[in-house]
Amino acid sequence: MTAPPVSGATLPSHTPEHPLRADPGPVLGLETSCDETAAALVHGGVVLAHRVASQVPIHQRFGGVVPEVAARNHLLTALPTIQAVLDDAGLQPAQLSGVAVTNRPGLIGALLVGVQTAKALAWVWKKPLIGVDHIHAHVWATFLRPPQEAGAPWPVPRLPFAALAVSGGHTSLYAVHAPDRFELLGRSLDDAAGEAFDKLAKLLDIPYPGGPNVERAAALGNPARFRLPRGMLGRDDGAYSFSGLKTAARLALADLPADLPADERAQATRDLCAAFQTAIVEQLVRVTLANAQRRGLRDLVLAGGVAANGALRRALAEACQRHRLRFWPVPPAYCTDNGAMVAGLGEALLHLGLRDDPRSLDALATGEVRRLAAAAL
Ligand code: KG4
Ligand code: ZN
Repeated sequence: MTAPPVSGATLPSHTPEHPLRADPGPVLGLETSCDETAAALVHGGVVLAHRVASQVPIHQRFGGVVPEVAARNHLLTALPTIQAVLDDAGLQPAQLSGVAVTNRPGLIGALLVGVQTAKALAWVWKKPLIGVDHIHAHVWATFLRPPQEAGAPWPVPRLPFAALAVSGGHTSLYAVHAPDRFELLGRSLDDAAGEAFDKLAKLLDIPYPGGPNVERAAALGNPARFRLPRGMLGRDDGAYSFSGLKTAARLALADLPADLPADERAQATRDLCAAFQTAIVEQLVRVTLANAQRRGLRDLVLAGGVAANGALRRALAEACQRHRLRFWPVPPAYCTDNGAMVAGLGEALLHLGLRDDPRSLDALATGEVRRLAAAAL
């Protein structure tokens, strides 16, 4: 039985209002859903300024994100980070056309800091406010471009497109029809891909954040030494699964002789990282391609923190070429959590005339979003 949502929580639907006037100014984006405090200014998809106040060194000694510590640090860094992007771009709040903030899904304490900050700023600056979905923002980052490319032709995927969002909390495949229309085609039935990387890192005493460090170790390892499961073979229906992989890695580690010399143990660790990464990549490629093709989608976007993984980018690029799909990996700078993706999706939603009421915009934790989405089916 699933628990009922906390009282008052509903899946957000924005209020349609009059579209913004012609030539609106940049949109401020604020992201505080996990451990990064990030702000950015985006205008017409061009990233005018973007800053990430990383909390990685703070959480590193705990081996993972501590929610209360993350929330407290957002409180300390949110306004200075916003001020910094305004200074970087040489802009005043009066020149903005709106404020966008991640209001779901994420760690509730962390989200509340960003949402309350954005609500207060939108209120005092008298600017439209829009709450955005963190995972959708990851995907919409495909439309961002750096300022030096502002005038150049900038190819973008054609709607509707397939989008694989792979992060620490989510592995989701969408058919994206519009900024406010993401159709879920499939998701992980258990751990997210990034979570699997992070859990393997913990198992192997590899420092947080796990993903990039596992990728570095994997580059020096032999993926063929350990044979790990590839999710649920025979199921290409959009369902990903990574928890069996984690268990298999634990068993493989336990099988190593206790008296293995240190250098051989270190090599075994690298080999296990390589085998683990290969297994994750193979499953992501197989299930994603099968679903995109089944739906007749010709463009595939790859987004989210795990999209920074070189092996995954290469494997999906090859598979897309083989199957004649256009491949759009989000540039690495916008893969992990950032404010530009929030500003970018916020800008697109505001252009549709959508906005939220600063008096009532709520934050929704990961579990709440899942429960509400399941109840809506
Ligand atoms: O999107 P993101 O920054 O935050 C969430 O929304 O969760 O993703 C963070 C996740 C972490 O699990 C991290 O280990 C993983 O992305 N990650 C990677 C790489 N860079 C980040 N996983 C594999 N290879 C990478 N290079
Ligand atoms: Zn993220």
